[in-house]
Amino acid sequence: MCGIVAYMGEREAYPILLKGLHRLEYRGYDSAGVALIKPGEEIRLFKCKGKVSDLEHFVVNKDVSGHIGVGHTRWATHGVPDDKNAHPHFSESGKLVIIHNGIIENYASLKKELENRGHVFKSDTDTEVLIYLIENILENEKVELVEAVQIALTQVVGAYAIVILSKENPDLMIGAKKGSPLVVGIGPDHEYFIASDATPIIEYTRNVVYLDDEEIVILETGKEMKIKTIRNQDKTPYVHALEMQLETIEKGGFEHFMLKEIYEQPRSVRDNMRGRLNIELGEVTLGGIIDYQSKIMNAHRIIIVACGTSWHAGLVGEYLFEDLARIPVEVEYASEFRYRNPIITENDVVIAISQSGETADTLAAIELAKSKGATIFGICNVVGSSIARATHAGSYTHAGPEIGVASTKAFTAQVTVLTLMALVIANKKGTITQAKYHQMLNGLDQIPAKIEEVLKLDDQIRHISSKYKDANNFLYLGRSYNFPIALEGALKLKEISYIHAEGYPAAEMKHGPIALIDENMPVVVIAPSRGAYEKILSNVQEVKARGGKIIAIVTQGDQDVSALADHTIEIPDVEEELTPLMCVIPLQLLAYHIAIMRGCNVDQPRNLAKSVTVE
Ligand code: G6P
Repeated sequence: MCGIVAYMGEREAYPILLKGLHRLEYRGYDSAGVALIKPGEEIRLFKCKGKVSDLEHFVVNKDVSGHIGVGHTRWATHGVPDDKNAHPHFSESGKLVIIHNGIIENYASLKKELENRGHVFKSDTDTEVLIYLIENILENEKVELVEAVQIALTQVVGAYAIVILSKENPDLMIGAKKGSPLVVGIGPDHEYFIASDATPIIEYTRNVVYLDDEEIVILETGKEMKIKTIRNQDKTPYVHALEMQLETIEKGGFEHFMLKEIYEQPRSVRDNMRGRLNIELGEVTLGGIIDYQSKIMNAHRIIIVACGTSWHAGLVGEYLFEDLARIPVEVEYASEFRYRNPIITENDVVIAISQSGETADTLAAIELAKSKGATIFGICNVVGSSIARATHAGSYTHAGPEIGVASTKAFTAQVTVLTLMALVIANKKGTITQAKYHQMLNGLDQIPAKIEEVLKLDDQIRHISSKYKDANNFLYLGRSYNFPIALEGALKLKEISYIHAEGYPAAEMKHGPIALIDENMPVVVIAPSRGAYEKILSNVQEVKARGGKIIAIVTQGDQDVSALADHTIEIPDVEEELTPLMCVIPLQLLAYHIAIMRGCNVDQPRNLAKSVTVE
């Protein structure tokens, strides 16, 4: 959470920082700020509560000139979102300034120590403690700024991606990271960018260096970049070439990123399967698992760790791996797994799923499982992300940048990778018949075109949305492969429309949620013809008998559920194992339209952030 961006070079820094902050706003948007520096002058700092657009208004008629600067967009952890807690933060003397993403866990004890020595803090943040600490070391130990930063960072516990500027060294910019991501962009003639991800950078350069944990980058006007560790070991920068295209991070004519990303799914699923699914040869290959194939085949257990929507993809993975490859699977919330002393052995394979590849809990769960000898496989969307680098092997989802906070195309891409992976393993193990294997491959090949068909139902779904936009509660029911889709549909609705929604296994409804059903309760039932259709039909009857309003996702040509439902959304027929890839699409659109009709900001829902880099 929190987006950070910094610039040093020949151009004016402020427009670059501002554009970068807009691109990083998905990481947090409760306050924003910039600081700019010119030799011989005081550091100019502008920050305010609100979004980046509020900052833009705030700086009108102010002097934002300069070629070196830092910017920040915040997702509050320590201290309410207000002007004083917004970043950047000054050191006590005002000679240093810092932007920070992450949490300094021992900030309270450090703060107390500094307060005991007479220092007075102006904000409630952990970040301010860090910059005070650095200044303290600088003054008391008479060291250079780089060394002071190194010493301070050896004293902090927690996660940080930081950039620091100094009035006394106006040609110097220092960045460092641990646990939170930091990318350095290298332009021509010693032009440098630093950011939380590459999106603020790609317009200017494709050459980037991803910092590793406990590394510090030292950038000086007119000089080559230097990377050291916080313990002062020299490191050689490894320059990567970015492959991302600028269009992929812009709205491309859509009103919202979320809608654009929903509509991108035929392409993102196709991109995901490109080079992996070869329909002519009747083959699936997943380069990422080749070296670990036998390990996965012989795994005693697969443990899937993830958070949020990625966890829902993991649940679909559980059905796929157990059903097709006959390997026992457990799906764990990364945040629970890491703290409950789980039993993990060298015979376990852990699959970590993460769109951003930066989720702090998932990363910590990986480290824990690794320390116990498990093989870790990653399914990430962001290339080069921390999780992608922390795993033994992995497959990217190739969905392209996902900017809307509510995950859509990343989810279908994750489910696609899991399906391919389960098929590779099932085929090698001989746990599915050749006929079934080839049916599945053909089915997968047709998924992009079938998603296109579902997207054509957009107007119908908008119409249904208008009928239920004022509901206070929603219930989502699904069984088997579509139980996780019920959870995901409910999550989509609650996170962007703020309507309370619950997903439930349809048969469990009678153990509680049925008490909630009356004529004011819309119930979304996922009832494709394949799978437990007859069973879910009975559940639909139970809802109907209690007056609930039924919105049913059914297979084209359906009769029985449709006869009972108030609204039906017909999707093309696919193999049961592939129904999640179909059924989730109308639920994404339903949530989107309801949220828009309620006047909600779908791309930046309140209190949420796309990349959760704090635990
Ligand atoms: C946040 C996002 C969700 C996402 C979850 C896990 O809560 O808002 O959309 O599903 O984090 O993120 P990850 O990047 O690990 O998939």
